[in-house]
Amino acid sequence: MDDTPVKDGVTLASLLENGGRKALSLVMFGREILANPRAMGAICPSSPALAAHMAAQVPLNQQGPTVELGGGTGTVTAALLKHGVRAQELVVIERSAKLATHLCRRFPSLRVIQGDAVQLGDLLGPDAGRVRTVVSSLPLRSLPPETVRAIAEQLEAVLAPGARFIQFTYKHRALCSMLSERFTTVYSRIIWGNLPPARLDVFQYQP
Ligand SMILES: C[S@@+](CC[C@H](N)C(=O)[O-])C[C@H]1O[C@@H](n2cnc3c(N)ncnc32)[C@H](O)[C@@H]1O
Repeated sequence: MDDTPVKDGVTLASLLENGGRKALSLVMFGREILANPRAMGAICPSSPALAAHMAAQVPLNQQGPTVELGGGTGTVTAALLKHGVRAQELVVIERSAKLATHLCRRFPSLRVIQGDAVQLGDLLGPDAGRVRTVVSSLPLRSLPPETVRAIAEQLEAVLAPGARFIQFTYKHRALCSMLSERFTTVYSRIIWGNLPPARLDVFQYQP
C-alpha cells in the first residue's frame, strides 16, 4: 500500500484502514441490533467524541485494573488506550459472542472476556475488589430492571474504595435509581457530538 502522505501526514493506507474499520463496526453493530435490540440500546456505535470524553475521565497511574463494560465495536476501548490506560491493566467485558470475537481481533493485546456484567465479580476473579475505574456503555435504559439492579450490586463488589464509575446514558433516571448513596457524582455533562446526544456521568464510590 502507498505510504505517501495524502494530507497532513495522513497516508492513503491509514485512510483506507480507518474507513474499513468504521464500515465493519457499523455492519457488526447493525447485525447485533437486529439480533438483540434491547442489549444494544443504541442506534449506532459510540461516537469518537463521546469515547474521548469518557476516556478522559479515567485517572492514570493508579494501581488496579480499569474495566470496560459493553465494549461493543471498540470505540471506547480505542479511546481508553489512546488516553494512556495500559493494555495490561484494561479488561473488556462484552456479552455478545460475535462482538467479543471482534474485540479480540481488533485488540489482540487486551484481556477481552465474553460474559455478562451481571457476573462481573466471577468474571474478574482475583481482580474483584481492586478495580480503580469502570467505564460502561451498558444500555441501562433498555436492560430489564432486575439486570440493572444485579449489575449495580456487582459494581459495589468489584470497585475499590475511591474508585470511579463512568457511564453514558440516554435516560438519567435509570442511572440514578441504579446506584446507592455510596456513589457521589463528580462530573456530569451532555455530549452533543453523539447520535443521539448522550449524558456522561462520573461517580466516585466510597463504601
Ligand atoms: C451501546 S452498545 C456498545 C457501545 C460501544 N461503546 C460501541 O461503540 O460499540 C452496548 C453494548 O453493551 C453490551 N451489553 C449489553 N448488555 C450487557 C451485559 N449484561 N453484559 C455485558 N455486555 C452487555 C452489548 O452487547 C453492546 O455491545
